Amino acid sequence: MKAIEIRNKYLNFFERNGHSVIPSAPLIPENDPSVLFNTAGMQPLVPYLLGQKHPKGTRLVDFQKCVRTNDIDEVGDNRHLTYFEMLGNWSLGDYFKEESVKMSFDFLTKELNIPIEKLHVTCFAGDKDCPKDEETANVWKKVGIPENHIYYFGKDNNWWIAGEEGPCGPDTEMFYDTGKPACSENCNPSCDCGKFVEIWNNVFMQYYKNADGSYSKLKQKNVDTGLGLERMAMLLQGKETPFDIEIFKPVMDKLQELQKVDNIHSRRIVTEHLRTSMMIISDGGRPSNVDRGYVLRRLIRRMTRHMNNLQINLDELANIINLYIDTLKELYPELDKNKEVIKNVIVEEKNKFIKTLTNGEKEFNKEAAKLRSENKDILEGKTVFRLYDTFGFPPEVTSELAKENGLTINMEEFNKLFKEHQEKSRAGASQKFKGGLADQSEETIAYHTATHLLNAALKIVINKDVHQRGSNITAERMRFDFSCDHKMTEEEKAKTEELVNKWIQEGLDVKCTEMSKEEAIVSGAECMFIEKYPDIVTVYTIGDISKELCGGPHVKNTKELGTFKIKKEEASSAGVRRIKAVLIK
Ligand code: SER
Repeated sequence: MKAIEIRNKYLNFFERNGHSVIPSAPLIPENDPSVLFNTAGMQPLVPYLLGQKHPKGTRLVDFQKCVRTNDIDEVGDNRHLTYFEMLGNWSLGDYFKEESVKMSFDFLTKELNIPIEKLHVTCFAGDKDCPKDEETANVWKKVGIPENHIYYFGKDNNWWIAGEEGPCGPDTEMFYDTGKPACSENCNPSCDCGKFVEIWNNVFMQYYKNADGSYSKLKQKNVDTGLGLERMAMLLQGKETPFDIEIFKPVMDKLQELQKVDNIHSRRIVTEHLRTSMMIISDGGRPSNVDRGYVLRRLIRRMTRHMNNLQINLDELANIINLYIDTLKELYPELDKNKEVIKNVIVEEKNKFIKTLTNGEKEFNKEAAKLRSENKDILEGKTVFRLYDTFGFPPEVTSELAKENGLTINMEEFNKLFKEHQEKSRAGASQKFKGGLADQSEETIAYHTATHLLNAALKIVINKDVHQRGSNITAERMRFDFSCDHKMTEEEKAKTEELVNKWIQEGLDVKCTEMSKEEAIVSGAECMFIEKYPDIVTVYTIGDISKELCGGPHVKNTKELGTFKIKKEEASSAGVRRIKAVLIK
């Protein structure tokens, strides 16, 4: 079964079971500088898992574009991917364990026709924070999973949380038995030998892990599930690696045809990193030396070096991208739409890198020879940093070169130098990101307060489920993105302006209070990305019309704002509108 069929079956199945299909959020979280990429389907849904009402109801289904870079160095083996698609269904305080397990079972056995005997499942073993999940195990038994295919594990295996703090809970994981021989008598789904492959994870999100490590109960019991599309396609197609499925195969074959040196590891790296780069660029990412831009830079540079390893003429890159987009456009039509920019960005970054690639390799060889003559085998961090800083070699590239030469690199020392360098760049970036403010002039501060008034007005004029999706402020104007499924009418725009101006004229006091994050949520304060806030937060209230978690700064009274005027209202992305407005003094 092809990936697109699996995705369609999934969305249809859950739609038939009362779920609303919602679009994938962009790979790059909008205006959220605290996370680089969406790494799971639940990430854009955090406010709703915490209790905010979702406009599409309490049962949702989607496919989410995800990038996880923690295993980037492993890419090239037979399974690791940096980009993957996660199919997911959610209950926001709606169904819980029994229905969730039954639906997963039906989807796997009836829609995908996976034989029951191939399925093994794991449940939470219980500890001081949460009891043993016999309830879920019993449902598995009831639907027909034999008892010896049900396992219990602790938090290491059967507990899910994104990062250190946030919504979380015990999970039940489904595994596919590949039929490979057991590696030992104790071979089980927690073992890494490859016999069992994890295919789906249903998290029963009912807790919030606080920064101090304690757990609180969430307002509602949620279900958050995730099924990796590429992996499922690989298993259903009986392939050994994801690189053999229709998503990657045409490009893998093309590279084999073009290569002058055979190296499957390099072909996989090129194929994998190229797809991730295309997806990031298509969603607005661009190479740079910080944060997500640097991830993209690393991907493109590593890919370039591996194309070189294969001795493929780098001028072929644009043709390879064309082929890739043709292969993927049914899954991701946006790639076709953004084809030219994708090609331009990748080719330009490749060109930047090849200018220094040869000189950098020469420099590396010189250093390697010196080390050998001194009978040493560790490349100093400062050399790794020089290769990075002067020749644009990401440390992974240097590390790979080192490995090929029987050397290792002093990553710790490099990291220290890199961190110092990043902190300098970040100091600049964090200023820029502070509340979406470009600077902290009187004008930008006034605009910042105006975004809160606008947010409150839109909730009244459009509906209470309108939420901020981003903002960008300069001394000359404000831009405000918000969830809304239609183009605003002239009447709605006029009413919004009227309300904001009324509040400005009323001279409402702007007050700032510190409280715990939990308290803020319970008090109903508006918040865009709850997970990016510290434990103690500041909440700004304006009269009794607006209450938002916010870092500030703000004016003291709304009468300082002048007259509010909407200049433009336009689409920003699917389900998100953008208002550009000014304050006239
Ligand atoms: N959040 C869980 C995961 O990423 C289930 O979607 O595995």
